[in-house]
Amino acid sequence: MPASPSPAVRPLDRRTLLKLACATGVPGAWRPGRVLAQPALAGDPFALGVASAPGGAGSVVLWTRIAPQVNAQIARFSLPSTEDYVAARGAWGDAPGKLDVRWELANDEGFRTVVRRGTSEAPAELAHSVHVELDGLAPDRPYWYRFLYGDAVSPVGRTRPMPAPATRLRFALASCQHYEYGYFGAYETMRADDPDFVVFVGDYIYEGGTRADRFRPHPFPSARTLFDYRLRHSLYKLDPALQKMHRHCPWILTWDDHEVSNDYARDVGEDPAVDGAARRRAAYQAYYEHMPLATSALVERFGHVRMYRRLDAGALVTFLVLDDRQYRDRQACQPTGRGGSSMVDDASCPQRRDPARTLLGAEQLTWLRREMLAPRARWTIITQQTAFSRMMRNDRNPRYWTDGWDGYPAERARVLGLINEARPPNPVFLGGDVHTTYVCDVKADFDAPRSPTIATEFCGTSITSPTSLDAKRIAALIEANPHVLFGDAAHRGYLLAELGEKTLSVELRGVEDITQREPKVATIATWIVNDGRPGALRA
Ligand SMILES: [Fe+2]
Repeated sequence: MPASPSPAVRPLDRRTLLKLACATGVPGAWRPGRVLAQPALAGDPFALGVASAPGGAGSVVLWTRIAPQVNAQIARFSLPSTEDYVAARGAWGDAPGKLDVRWELANDEGFRTVVRRGTSEAPAELAHSVHVELDGLAPDRPYWYRFLYGDAVSPVGRTRPMPAPATRLRFALASCQHYEYGYFGAYETMRADDPDFVVFVGDYIYEGGTRADRFRPHPFPSARTLFDYRLRHSLYKLDPALQKMHRHCPWILTWDDHEVSNDYARDVGEDPAVDGAARRRAAYQAYYEHMPLATSALVERFGHVRMYRRLDAGALVTFLVLDDRQYRDRQACQPTGRGGSSMVDDASCPQRRDPARTLLGAEQLTWLRREMLAPRARWTIITQQTAFSRMMRNDRNPRYWTDGWDGYPAERARVLGLINEARPPNPVFLGGDVHTTYVCDVKADFDAPRSPTIATEFCGTSITSPTSLDAKRIAALIEANPHVLFGDAAHRGYLLAELGEKTLSVELRGVEDITQREPKVATIATWIVNDGRPGALRA
């Protein structure tokens, strides 16, 4: 399908963004007696649910989007042909202008003790999304929040800032939720596991066009425009298990490639004919509109959204959240005529090892060094998109996949060098993207098997996305990469981590059947990391 221009959405200038930041950040901004812009809307304004995320110390971001017609819109744009769909693009047809949305934060689920309330603007140019940024909250307790519009009251969400002091923390690691391959039923069990946070490391949506032979096909072509990405996020957010998981606890979010396009690097995707910069801008805007992201993340409108950041839970743990998509060089040795990744060997692709190539970008790497050198908590969890440890394939000769850290070995060596230099306490990498669970000892030098283990890695499987790996290929991969202690491609699911002062314990939770709304989930294995001893041990 040819690239289409973005629909006529007025870009925000910096003043508007600052105004929005102020409007959403002031508790009690709603003044009784002020006339609210709340025209009557047909349909449930809160059909997409609510969500929250922890911000800096004592702060949270609350999110909703006023989308009363979203079900009708999805039905309307479920048009029989691509031509009809493209002709309808741009006709979003939601409520016009800005809407005023009230919100409340309470100490209890029944809202008997409301501790903050206010009104925030939901501007049409941001798809009537609402981002409420609150700080000065008590770091040692949960809160409940809800939004109000006219007579409508949103579902209630539970949130909390990063806890302090903290001696224990439970979190789930998830990634890669492909709508078309199954229901997001893994979240039903995750909710029963009752984590304090979900750590989500990317592929929240998949941007691709539909395929009729999939389990849950959607009717849309590959997303290119703001309109397309809004529709795709809406479709995903309508999954009831996903909505409930957002209501259950705050999410620590970062993104990977499919929030924009497969294997994109900086602003270049697989298809060189598509205007990658415009597509990325549209995708970033829709992502912001559907996620509890602080307005301060918008560095240059939607041309640059800063996702890398540090989050502390008291003296227990520091999360360093990375973004390895936005600033990376293109994958090495790209096949002729297209962008994206491939499998390469050293003989045909010396470029892969070029020390000038970057994955994080110079600015983020400098930030990472500074954060690693700063005084820190007992555990250092580096939350990023893909498999960090070397995953060399050695079926014929050593080959490497160019999209993950294996495609940027010099950058990986720089990060390992930082760990050696800064010695952050108990470094643990979390990742996703490869739709396979891996537990790894992170080596100071992956090409020298006797080099010391300096960190630990847990790479989570997918919520639903498939893999072509099987047990035989996993076994071969482990043989070629002895630092990989465990691999499992058979299960979709998530990881459940219990972090204490002395031990990190990680349960690998496997879903039995992703075509069930409420599937059975079982623990496949449990691995632990002890304080002061890098590397994983089977429990
Ligand atoms: Fe994925």
